[in-house]
Amino acid sequence: MSENFQHVAHTRDVPPGKLLRVIIGEHALMLANVEGGIYATDDMCTHEDASLSTGALKGDCVSCPLHGSRFNVRTGEPMEEPADVPLRTWKVRVDGDKILIAID
Ligand code: FES
Repeated sequence: MSENFQHVAHTRDVPPGKLLRVIIGEHALMLANVEGGIYATDDMCTHEDASLSTGALKGDCVSCPLHGSRFNVRTGEPMEEPADVPLRTWKVRVDGDKILIAID
């Protein structure tokens, strides 16, 4: 199946060390800029309803604003409880100043 990449933001919208919530169709995603590399995961914490893009990015881990679980934004893996389910990750492509995400 060929991948369909969709333009969701510009690189200036998510500078290094920052997070950005974007919507694609019915999905809310979080973009994270780790030292110039852009990663995308689901925005909703897998523990309860909290928007991770309102949390804090430290290195390649985002901290949930509600109960403090940390997730690796490269892999989606939970690094600290209470969350124990990984975040879905999304394929990212940067084309010039455009950030594109592969959608289903
Ligand atoms: S809602 Fe994210 S850790 Fe509880």
